[in-house]
Amino acid sequence: MVIEPKMRGFICLTAHPKGCEQNILNQIAYTRSKGTIAGPKNVLVIGASTGFGLASRIVSAFGANASTIGVFFEKAPSEGKTASPGWYNSAAFQNEAKKAGLYAKSINGDAFSDEIKKQTIELIKKDLGKIDVVVYSLASPVRTNPKTGVTHRSVLKPIGQTFTNNTVDFHTGKVTEISIAPATPEDIDNTIAVMGGEDWQMWMDALLQADALSENALTLAYSYIGPGLTEAVYRKGTIGKAKDHLEATAFNITDSLKKVNGKAYVSVNKALVTQASSAIPVIPLYISLLYKTMKEKGIHEGCIEQIDRLFRERLYSGQSIPVDGNNRIRIDDWEMRADIQDKVAELWAQANTETLPAIGDLAGYKADFLNLFGFGLANVDYAADVNEMVAIDGLQ
Ligand code: NAI
Ligand code: NA
Repeated sequence: MVIEPKMRGFICLTAHPKGCEQNILNQIAYTRSKGTIAGPKNVLVIGASTGFGLASRIVSAFGANASTIGVFFEKAPSEGKTASPGWYNSAAFQNEAKKAGLYAKSINGDAFSDEIKKQTIELIKKDLGKIDVVVYSLASPVRTNPKTGVTHRSVLKPIGQTFTNNTVDFHTGKVTEISIAPATPEDIDNTIAVMGGEDWQMWMDALLQADALSENALTLAYSYIGPGLTEAVYRKGTIGKAKDHLEATAFNITDSLKKVNGKAYVSVNKALVTQASSAIPVIPLYISLLYKTMKEKGIHEGCIEQIDRLFRERLYSGQSIPVDGNNRIRIDDWEMRADIQDKVAELWAQANTETLPAIGDLAGYKADFLNLFGFGLANVDYAADVNEMVAIDGLQ
């Protein structure tokens, strides 16, 4: 069928298999163009099908020639209905890995569950033996705790008081003021339960117990800090509490990995257009001003550039891993530069529906958003009939 974008609110209901494949090819070409990384041999990526997790899988495989197992939760296609983009991304990744002679297998299911952990560990033991790097890159609005059976839902709210600021509907370009009422204590607990470090710790405990981690194993999770402009709704809001918990969990995991001399790190990444970040109020306006400013200075990066730099210049540079005072790896360094943040703050004060097209990169935001679903890519014939019923090779 001919597949077109079908927008509903913050999501696109369709995805284009050829466009998603082109995204994978572009990311592979980028990391290959930078040369080989003396990196890990066996990598497990939890949240491997989109965003930072997908880029982590691509850099591991096509930058470091690693064998990869990817875990994700994506919707399969059905006759006349497209799959979710992560499905098509993973299908294309698997095909390219096969062509390159790289081991790659994928598991589609709820990573928060005991069953998927068990299935993943069985596959590791059978095929790879041990894992050198575990990337934990889940972004989800909901988690069922397998020990209690309780389903938690995360919220994106300020804490303590109502937060009022501007936001943009990136489809229409309309800038409006929004007010978000503060979270309840239960909201905070639920958000920590979904996006904090408890499940990361569960994965690492299960892997260690199964003797599935190599000597000197590393595990990484991704966090965000951002500027004062967004802090009420991000870093000092409910999601920020979850990130505090995730960052604290890194220390606990490092303690529990002593037996294999393993280490857990959090990498603080740049704000980027992904399915997860598009749903956060205020952030799309910030991103459109940030993109404009960083592109003008020639230091804009997407997921693949960020993660390639993380592996090449932080994790596997041959030197010790540089960290901040809280033991976090910082690849948000360019976003947080004073000249960038001063400029964004200046633009923020001027941003309204009329000025934004000129002072912000709304077009870049929209293009990136469509790209997430495989639309708007060069070298893809969108008028052509394509088969939506794509299977993922190597899916367990
Ligand atoms: P994303 O939405 O692109 O990717 C989420 C991944 O998690 C997908 O592979 C999805 O299939 C998987 N997933 C979700 N629920 C699952 C479940 N129950 N079981 C198995 N897999 C599941 O998100 P993105 O933006 O790449 O986020 C990844 C991490 O990076 C998050 O911790 C996020 O907070 C962090 N981060 C994101 C930034 C951004 O601007 N997008 C900035 C800095 C950090
Ligand atoms: Na991800």
